Amino acid sequence: MSIPRLVVHNNATTLWVDNQPFISLAAEIHNSSASSPTYMEEHVWSEVMQLNINTLVVPIYWELIEPIQSKFDFSSVDYLISAARKHHVKLVLLWYGLWKNGLSSYVPEWVKTDSSTIYAQTDSGEHLFSVSPADQHSVSLDATAFSKLMSHIKQYDAAQSTVIMVQVENEVGLLRSDFDYSIDKESALAEPIPTGLIEGSQKSWSEHFGSEAGEYYMAYLYASAIQQIAKAGKQAYALPFYVNAWLEKPLGTPGTFPTGGPTARMLRTWQLAAPAIDLITPDIYVPNFDQVCDEYSRTQSALLVPETRQDLRTVSNLIYGISNYNLFLFSPFGAEDFFKAQKESDLRVLTQLAIDADAFNYSKTGPVLSSAYGYLQGLIPLLIANRRTKNLHSFLVKQAADRGTRITLGDCTAVIHFSQMEGNIAPSAGFILELSDQEFLLFGINIRVELEAPKNEERKVGLLRMEEGKVVSNQWQTTRILNGDEQYNIQIGESPNLLKLRTYLY
Ligand code: DGJ
Repeated sequence: MSIPRLVVHNNATTLWVDNQPFISLAAEIHNSSASSPTYMEEHVWSEVMQLNINTLVVPIYWELIEPIQSKFDFSSVDYLISAARKHHVKLVLLWYGLWKNGLSSYVPEWVKTDSSTIYAQTDSGEHLFSVSPADQHSVSLDATAFSKLMSHIKQYDAAQSTVIMVQVENEVGLLRSDFDYSIDKESALAEPIPTGLIEGSQKSWSEHFGSEAGEYYMAYLYASAIQQIAKAGKQAYALPFYVNAWLEKPLGTPGTFPTGGPTARMLRTWQLAAPAIDLITPDIYVPNFDQVCDEYSRTQSALLVPETRQDLRTVSNLIYGISNYNLFLFSPFGAEDFFKAQKESDLRVLTQLAIDADAFNYSKTGPVLSSAYGYLQGLIPLLIANRRTKNLHSFLVKQAADRGTRITLGDCTAVIHFSQMEGNIAPSAGFILELSDQEFLLFGINIRVELEAPKNEERKVGLLRMEEGKVVSNQWQTTRILNGDEQYNIQIGESPNLLKLRTYLY
């Protein structure tokens, strides 16, 4: 069995797991859940397994695996791997090392309290709770710990490939300051840009980037630190690695979102400075899901959505994202809550993280996401074979004024009507997969479809057959044959559904 890997074919990257293409229909758990096997057993597994996931996204904490310098304790890692095997899911690990959301909260005590650890500073000299990316010593300690972790996973798991990917750190960058002033900004920006970062440029950071020089410099520093950490990990066990971005805040200035993190504007710098990272990915809590996916797909041949919102929008984004992009990980955050009663969100936390309160309304998400994942599990091979071909047509309502879309198929046109977007309902979304000129699959949520004959065709379009069903092991399984009352409208409501339609002209 070869190890999980990224395979590039026809300019598209696919994740291969257990020697076949794989899409992670995932869920990420809360930050602290994986700190205790008992907590996982009592509060997490039974909840997340109801979601029909094939992958769980879980943190690994530096402070727990290396509580004393060079004394490693991998029991928390081993527990997660064996529990995942028991539940027949794969794992994506989040390495909470030097930085988690711009802070250094998961750094072991012995690093936090070491007087030689360099903390980042504001321009007034205030120390920030974030280790400076220029602190070479701390970066090398993290690299050593990460490499030990990867060697351990190789030894414990390579034969079974339970762990399929690793996120290196979490939403890095510096908050509350536009620059890390533990570094002398003026002289740093007067240095020439390192060769390889800007082709043929002999200019200094300031000359080349002007007012954005500080931000590019910070991106280079963070990306270089991540490169050192990721490279050490890759040498130990070469699983696919990615980083996740806290997105740039509209109208915000660097520091209101993490300065130097892998935002869309900094993507190129990150790609050049951190080649040991396979993909740079967005955490998407904002409403303009498609625009963010477009930005991160433009210069990369695959897309991951490693962390995303909890409300019903997430289901629509999933359906659109998985069919419209070369997406191979989709992972809503805090998924152990999705079948529980809605708790009031801690607005202070959300404000600090710059997340809309709406995005954390999981009150109706559990059953709907579970149903979508259930259908998509069976559709994965078809999606992988047809993504980016003319046979697959995706749609998503993007703003309240969108009423629908027309899709030209072999023998007819499908007119997709979107539902009104009011309250916490899943925005209309779906895809059509053409099986032949007369036959197609329709998967979606909150849509109504009318079929029209091609222009200049006097005959009308009729349905020879309309079935509701699912795909299991590449075979269509009919749940019901829809006719009579069930055929007046081709409609899918608030729960996702999969239909197979065969048309004719009369
Ligand atoms: C983004 C972070 O990456 C997550 O770990 C978590 O803190 C969520 N925000 C919000 O709770």
